[in-house]
Amino acid sequence: MTENESIIIRPRRLRRTPAIRDMVRETTLSVKDFIAPLFVKPGKGKKDPISSMPGQYQFSVDTLVKEAGELWELGIPSVILFGLPDQKDATGSRSWAEDGIVQQAVSAIKDRLPEMVVITDVCLCEYTDHGHCGVIVNGEVDNNATLELLARQAVSYARAGTDFVAPSDMMDGRVAVIRKALDAEKYFNTGILSYAIKYDSAFYGPFREAADSAPQFGDRAGYQMDPANAIEALKEAELDLEEGADIIMVKPAIPYLDIIARVREVSLVPLAAYNVSGEYAMVKAAEMNGWIDGKRAMMEMLISIKRAGADLILTYFAKEAAGHLNP
Ligand code: PBG
Repeated sequence: MTENESIIIRPRRLRRTPAIRDMVRETTLSVKDFIAPLFVKPGKGKKDPISSMPGQYQFSVDTLVKEAGELWELGIPSVILFGLPDQKDATGSRSWAEDGIVQQAVSAIKDRLPEMVVITDVCLCEYTDHGHCGVIVNGEVDNNATLELLARQAVSYARAGTDFVAPSDMMDGRVAVIRKALDAEKYFNTGILSYAIKYDSAFYGPFREAADSAPQFGDRAGYQMDPANAIEALKEAELDLEEGADIIMVKPAIPYLDIIARVREVSLVPLAAYNVSGEYAMVKAAEMNGWIDGKRAMMEMLISIKRAGADLILTYFAKEAAGHLNP
Protein backbone atom coordinates (compact mmCIF):
# COMPACT_ATOMS: atom_id res chain seq x y z
CA MET A 1 0.00 0.00 0.00
CA THR A 2 1.41 3.37 -0.96
CA GLU A 3 1.38 6.15 1.57
CA ASN A 4 -1.03 8.02 -0.67
CA GLU A 5 -3.67 5.24 -0.62
CA SER A 6 -3.65 4.98 3.16
CA ILE A 7 -4.81 8.57 3.63
CA ILE A 8 -7.76 8.44 1.23
CA ILE A 9 -11.03 9.10 3.03
CA ARG A 10 -13.44 6.53 1.70
CA PRO A 11 -17.19 7.42 1.62
CA ARG A 12 -17.70 4.31 -0.51
CA ARG A 13 -17.42 2.14 2.64
CA LEU A 14 -20.92 3.33 3.52
CA ARG A 15 -22.24 2.33 0.08
CA ARG A 16 -20.77 -1.18 0.00
CA THR A 17 -23.83 -3.35 0.74
CA PRO A 18 -27.61 -2.86 0.67
CA ALA A 19 -27.78 -3.29 4.45
CA ILE A 20 -25.16 -0.62 5.07
CA ARG A 21 -26.88 1.74 2.65
CA ASP A 22 -30.20 1.13 4.44
CA MET A 23 -28.56 1.91 7.76
CA VAL A 24 -27.10 5.26 6.76
CA ARG A 25 -29.90 6.50 4.51
CA GLU A 26 -30.79 10.08 5.53
CA THR A 27 -34.27 10.35 4.03
CA THR A 28 -37.05 7.82 4.02
CA LEU A 29 -40.32 7.69 2.18
CA SER A 30 -43.49 6.22 3.62
CA VAL A 31 -47.00 5.67 2.32
CA LYS A 32 -48.01 7.93 5.22
CA ASP A 33 -46.41 10.84 3.36
CA PHE A 34 -48.79 10.52 0.44
CA ILE A 35 -51.98 12.36 -0.42
CA ALA A 36 -53.58 10.89 -3.56
CA PRO A 37 -55.39 13.30 -5.94
CA LEU A 38 -58.65 11.89 -7.36
CA PHE A 39 -61.08 13.25 -9.97
CA VAL A 40 -64.81 12.74 -9.56
CA LYS A 41 -67.66 13.28 -11.98
CA PRO A 42 -71.39 12.51 -12.23
CA GLY A 43 -72.64 9.07 -13.27
CA LYS A 44 -72.37 5.50 -12.11
CA GLY A 45 -69.77 2.81 -12.64
CA LYS A 46 -67.43 5.23 -14.41
CA LYS A 47 -63.66 4.90 -14.49
CA ASP A 48 -62.65 6.89 -17.56
CA PRO A 49 -58.92 6.98 -18.34
CA ILE A 50 -57.24 10.40 -18.57
CA SER A 51 -55.19 10.21 -21.78
CA SER A 52 -52.42 12.61 -20.73
CA MET A 53 -52.03 10.86 -17.37
CA PRO A 54 -51.75 7.10 -17.99
CA GLY A 55 -52.97 5.18 -14.93
CA GLN A 56 -55.22 8.05 -13.73
CA TYR A 57 -59.00 8.16 -14.08
CA GLN A 58 -62.12 10.23 -13.75
CA PHE A 59 -64.34 8.31 -11.34
CA SER A 60 -68.02 8.43 -10.52
CA VAL A 61 -68.82 8.50 -6.80
CA ASP A 62 -69.27 4.72 -6.50
CA THR A 63 -65.98 3.80 -8.19
CA LEU A 64 -64.23 6.65 -6.37
CA VAL A 65 -65.17 5.13 -3.01
CA LYS A 66 -63.77 1.80 -4.17
CA GLU A 67 -60.51 3.46 -5.25
CA ALA A 68 -60.25 5.33 -1.93
CA GLY A 69 -60.74 1.98 -0.16
CA GLU A 70 -57.85 0.46 -2.11
CA LEU A 71 -55.61 3.42 -1.26
CA TRP A 72 -56.57 3.10 2.41
CA GLU A 73 -55.75 -0.63 2.35
CA LEU A 74 -52.30 0.23 0.99
CA GLY A 75 -51.75 2.51 4.01
CA ILE A 76 -52.26 5.81 2.17
CA PRO A 77 -54.07 7.95 4.73
CA SER A 78 -55.44 10.71 2.56
CA VAL A 79 -57.02 11.80 -0.72
CA ILE A 80 -57.62 15.22 -2.26
CA LEU A 81 -60.71 15.54 -4.43
CA PHE A 82 -61.28 17.51 -7.64
CA GLY A 83 -64.76 17.74 -9.12
CA LEU A 84 -66.09 17.83 -12.67
CA PRO A 85 -69.54 19.39 -12.26
CA ASP A 86 -72.64 18.62 -14.34
CA GLN A 87 -72.88 22.31 -15.31
CA LYS A 88 -70.65 25.36 -15.37
CA ASP A 89 -71.58 29.03 -15.11
CA ALA A 90 -69.97 32.44 -14.69
CA THR A 91 -69.65 32.22 -10.89
CA GLY A 92 -69.03 28.49 -10.46
CA SER A 93 -72.18 28.04 -8.41
CA ARG A 94 -72.13 24.22 -8.62
CA SER A 95 -69.06 24.31 -6.38
CA TRP A 96 -71.10 25.20 -3.30
CA ALA A 97 -74.27 23.26 -4.17
CA GLU A 98 -75.35 20.88 -1.43
CA ASP A 99 -75.76 18.12 -4.03
CA GLY A 100 -72.53 19.08 -5.82
CA ILE A 101 -70.28 16.31 -7.07
CA VAL A 102 -67.50 16.83 -4.50
CA GLN A 103 -70.03 17.16 -1.66
CA GLN A 104 -71.47 13.78 -2.69
CA ALA A 105 -68.00 12.27 -2.95
CA VAL A 106 -66.92 13.50 0.49
CA SER A 107 -69.94 12.08 2.26
CA ALA A 108 -69.70 8.78 0.37
CA ILE A 109 -66.04 8.32 1.33
CA LYS A 110 -66.68 9.37 4.94
CA ASP A 111 -69.55 6.87 5.10
CA ARG A 112 -67.43 3.93 4.04
CA LEU A 113 -64.01 5.04 5.32
CA PRO A 114 -64.62 7.35 8.28
CA GLU A 115 -60.95 7.48 9.27
CA MET A 116 -59.60 8.41 5.88
CA VAL A 117 -58.39 12.03 5.72
CA VAL A 118 -60.45 13.73 3.05
CA ILE A 119 -59.14 16.97 1.59
CA THR A 120 -61.09 19.07 -0.90
CA ASP A 121 -59.58 21.49 -3.41
CA VAL A 122 -61.24 24.89 -3.14
CA CYS A 123 -61.17 26.80 -6.42
CA LEU A 124 -63.61 27.96 -9.04
CA CYS A 125 -61.77 27.02 -12.27
CA GLU A 126 -63.44 23.62 -12.65
CA TYR A 127 -66.86 25.22 -12.12
CA THR A 128 -66.72 28.42 -14.17
CA ASP A 129 -67.58 28.48 -17.88
CA HIS A 130 -64.58 30.77 -18.52
CA GLY A 131 -62.18 28.48 -16.65
CA HIS A 132 -60.63 31.16 -14.43
CA CYS A 133 -60.15 30.62 -10.69
CA GLY A 134 -62.41 33.51 -9.75
CA VAL A 135 -65.21 35.75 -11.01
CA ILE A 136 -64.54 38.13 -13.88
CA VAL A 137 -65.24 41.84 -13.40
CA ASN A 138 -64.20 44.22 -16.19
CA GLY A 139 -62.19 41.49 -17.89
CA GLU A 140 -60.16 40.67 -14.77
CA VAL A 141 -60.38 38.07 -12.02
CA ASP A 142 -61.81 40.11 -9.14
CA ASN A 143 -60.15 39.29 -5.84
CA ASN A 144 -62.74 40.32 -3.26
CA ALA A 145 -65.79 39.16 -5.18
CA THR A 146 -64.10 35.75 -5.47
CA LEU A 147 -63.32 35.48 -1.75
CA GLU A 148 -66.96 35.31 -0.80
CA LEU A 149 -67.59 32.45 -3.24
CA LEU A 150 -64.55 30.50 -2.09
CA ALA A 151 -65.79 30.81 1.50
CA ARG A 152 -69.19 29.42 0.44
CA GLN A 153 -67.50 26.49 -1.29
CA ALA A 154 -65.29 25.78 1.74
CA VAL A 155 -68.22 25.86 4.18
CA SER A 156 -70.21 23.57 1.88
CA TYR A 157 -67.34 21.01 1.85
CA ALA A 158 -67.07 21.29 5.63
CA ARG A 159 -70.78 20.54 5.91
CA ALA A 160 -70.25 17.43 3.74
CA GLY A 161 -67.57 16.28 6.19
CA THR A 162 -64.21 17.20 4.66
CA ASP A 163 -61.26 17.18 7.09
CA PHE A 164 -59.33 19.92 5.29
CA VAL A 165 -60.17 22.45 2.62
CA ALA A 166 -57.33 23.28 0.25
CA PRO A 167 -57.66 26.67 -1.45
CA SER A 168 -55.71 26.68 -4.74
CA ASP A 169 -57.07 29.86 -6.31
CA MET A 170 -54.29 32.28 -5.22
CA MET A 171 -56.64 35.14 -4.31
CA ASP A 172 -55.16 37.44 -1.65
CA GLY A 173 -56.63 37.07 1.82
CA ARG A 174 -58.52 33.87 1.15
CA VAL A 175 -57.15 31.85 4.05
CA ALA A 176 -58.39 34.45 6.57
CA VAL A 177 -61.78 34.74 4.89
CA ILE A 178 -62.23 30.96 4.71
CA ARG A 179 -61.12 30.51 8.36
CA LYS A 180 -63.59 33.15 9.47
CA ALA A 181 -66.44 31.60 7.47
CA LEU A 182 -65.70 28.10 8.82
CA ASP A 183 -65.58 29.39 12.39
CA ALA A 184 -68.80 31.36 11.96
CA GLU A 185 -70.52 28.07 11.06
CA LYS A 186 -68.77 26.35 13.98
CA TYR A 187 -66.55 24.19 11.76
CA PHE A 188 -63.68 24.80 14.17
CA ASN A 189 -62.15 21.40 13.41
CA THR A 190 -62.09 21.74 9.65
CA GLY A 191 -58.49 22.53 8.74
CA ILE A 192 -56.97 24.58 5.95
CA LEU A 193 -54.24 23.17 3.75
CA SER A 194 -53.29 26.22 1.77
CA TYR A 195 -51.68 26.20 -1.66
CA ALA A 196 -49.64 29.10 -0.23
CA ILE A 197 -46.98 29.04 -2.93
CA LYS A 198 -48.41 28.20 -6.31
CA TYR A 199 -46.51 29.09 -9.43
CA ASP A 200 -47.91 29.93 -12.85
CA SER A 201 -46.65 26.67 -14.33
CA ALA A 202 -46.72 24.82 -17.64
CA PHE A 203 -46.69 21.60 -15.63
CA TYR A 204 -50.44 21.85 -14.89
CA GLY A 205 -51.28 21.04 -18.54
CA PRO A 206 -52.46 17.44 -18.11
CA PHE A 207 -54.52 18.38 -15.02
CA ARG A 208 -56.44 20.96 -17.01
CA GLU A 209 -57.45 18.19 -19.42
CA ALA A 210 -58.32 15.88 -16.52
CA ALA A 211 -60.39 18.51 -14.71
CA ASP A 212 -61.59 20.36 -17.81
CA SER A 213 -60.41 23.61 -16.25
CA ALA A 214 -58.26 25.44 -18.82
CA PRO A 215 -58.89 29.20 -18.95
CA GLN A 216 -60.92 30.11 -22.06
CA PHE A 217 -59.07 33.43 -22.46
CA GLY A 218 -55.78 34.78 -21.14
CA ASP A 219 -53.75 32.91 -18.55
CA ARG A 220 -53.30 32.70 -14.78
CA ALA A 221 -50.21 34.94 -14.54
CA GLY A 222 -52.29 37.67 -12.86
CA TYR A 223 -52.84 35.52 -9.78
CA GLN A 224 -50.36 32.61 -9.77
CA MET A 225 -46.71 33.32 -8.96
CA ASP A 226 -43.88 34.15 -11.33
CA PRO A 227 -41.51 31.11 -11.56
CA ALA A 228 -38.55 33.49 -11.23
CA ASN A 229 -39.45 34.53 -7.66
CA ALA A 230 -38.20 32.97 -4.44
CA ILE A 231 -38.35 35.74 -1.81
CA GLU A 232 -41.99 36.23 -2.72
CA ALA A 233 -42.55 32.58 -1.76
CA LEU A 234 -41.46 33.39 1.79
CA LYS A 235 -43.88 36.30 1.87
CA GLU A 236 -46.76 34.11 0.64
CA ALA A 237 -45.88 31.49 3.27
CA GLU A 238 -45.81 34.09 6.05
CA LEU A 239 -49.15 35.59 5.00
CA ASP A 240 -50.94 32.23 4.93
CA LEU A 241 -49.48 31.21 8.29
CA GLU A 242 -50.62 34.50 9.82
CA GLU A 243 -54.07 34.01 8.30
CA GLY A 244 -54.39 30.62 9.98
CA ALA A 245 -53.32 27.91 7.53
CA ASP A 246 -52.77 24.55 9.28
CA ILE A 247 -50.60 23.11 6.50
CA ILE A 248 -48.97 25.05 3.68
CA MET A 249 -47.97 23.82 0.25
CA VAL A 250 -45.49 24.50 -2.51
CA LYS A 251 -46.60 23.67 -6.06
CA PRO A 252 -45.22 22.32 -8.40
CA ALA A 253 -42.56 20.25 -6.62
CA ILE A 254 -39.68 19.12 -8.85
CA PRO A 255 -38.80 22.46 -10.52
CA TYR A 256 -39.18 24.18 -7.12
CA LEU A 257 -37.13 22.02 -4.73
CA ASP A 258 -35.16 25.13 -3.70
CA ILE A 259 -38.42 26.79 -2.69
CA ILE A 260 -39.45 23.72 -0.65
CA ALA A 261 -36.12 23.83 1.19
CA ARG A 262 -36.37 27.55 1.93
CA VAL A 263 -40.00 27.47 3.03
CA ARG A 264 -39.29 24.46 5.28
CA GLU A 265 -36.90 26.64 7.25
CA VAL A 266 -39.50 29.31 8.03
CA SER A 267 -42.62 27.17 8.47
CA LEU A 268 -43.72 25.96 11.90
CA VAL A 269 -46.53 23.93 10.34
CA PRO A 270 -46.30 20.81 8.16
CA LEU A 271 -45.18 21.50 4.61
CA ALA A 272 -46.76 19.75 1.65
CA ALA A 273 -45.52 19.71 -1.95
CA TYR A 274 -47.59 18.95 -5.03
CA ASN A 275 -45.90 16.61 -7.51
CA VAL A 276 -48.16 17.87 -10.29
CA SER A 277 -49.73 16.36 -13.39
CA GLY A 278 -46.97 17.43 -15.79
CA GLU A 279 -44.28 15.91 -13.58
CA TYR A 280 -46.22 12.63 -13.61
CA ALA A 281 -46.92 12.78 -17.36
CA MET A 282 -43.25 13.37 -18.23
CA VAL A 283 -42.14 10.22 -16.42
CA LYS A 284 -44.97 8.17 -17.91
CA ALA A 285 -44.32 9.42 -21.46
CA ALA A 286 -40.60 8.71 -21.27
CA GLU A 287 -41.26 5.32 -19.71
CA MET A 288 -43.75 4.38 -22.45
CA ASN A 289 -41.13 5.28 -25.05
CA GLY A 290 -38.58 3.09 -23.33
CA TRP A 291 -36.42 6.15 -22.65
CA ILE A 292 -36.34 5.94 -18.87
CA ASP A 293 -36.81 3.44 -16.06
CA GLY A 294 -40.17 4.78 -14.88
CA LYS A 295 -40.15 3.09 -11.50
CA ARG A 296 -36.72 4.39 -10.58
CA ALA A 297 -37.51 7.88 -11.87
CA MET A 298 -40.73 7.92 -9.80
CA MET A 299 -38.97 6.86 -6.60
CA GLU A 300 -36.13 9.32 -7.20
CA MET A 301 -38.58 12.20 -7.70
CA LEU A 302 -40.49 11.32 -4.54
CA ILE A 303 -37.41 10.95 -2.34
CA SER A 304 -36.00 14.24 -3.67
CA ILE A 305 -39.18 16.08 -2.68
CA LYS A 306 -38.91 14.59 0.79
CA ARG A 307 -35.17 15.34 1.00
CA ALA A 308 -35.81 18.97 0.03
CA GLY A 309 -37.98 19.26 3.15
CA ALA A 310 -41.57 18.37 2.33
CA ASP A 311 -43.45 16.47 5.03
CA LEU A 312 -46.33 15.48 2.76
CA ILE A 313 -46.47 14.80 -0.97
CA LEU A 314 -49.55 15.14 -3.15
CA THR A 315 -48.79 12.74 -5.99
CA TYR A 316 -50.49 10.77 -8.74
CA PHE A 317 -47.79 8.15 -8.10
CA ALA A 318 -49.20 7.41 -4.61
CA LYS A 319 -50.79 4.06 -5.43
CA GLU A 320 -47.98 2.83 -7.66
CA ALA A 321 -45.22 3.94 -5.27
CA ALA A 322 -47.03 2.33 -2.33
CA GLY A 323 -46.42 -1.01 -4.00
CA HIS A 324 -42.68 -0.45 -3.55
CA LEU A 325 -42.81 0.75 0.08
CA ASN A 326 -43.60 -0.77 3.44
CA PRO A 327 -46.71 0.65 5.09
C1 PBG B 1 -57.02 24.43 -9.54
C2 PBG B 1 -55.87 23.51 -9.50
C3 PBG B 1 -54.92 23.23 -10.51
C4 PBG B 1 -54.12 22.21 -10.02
C5 PBG B 1 -54.56 21.92 -8.73
N1 PBG B 1 -55.63 22.74 -8.42
C6 PBG B 1 -54.79 23.75 -11.89
C7 PBG B 1 -54.45 25.14 -12.18
O1 PBG B 1 -54.14 25.96 -11.31
O2 PBG B 1 -54.54 25.46 -13.37
C8 PBG B 1 -52.99 21.55 -10.77
C9 PBG B 1 -52.64 20.17 -10.33
C10 PBG B 1 -51.80 19.40 -11.27
O3 PBG B 1 -51.31 19.88 -12.31
O4 PBG B 1 -51.60 18.21 -10.97
N2 PBG B 1 -56.74 25.76 -9.59
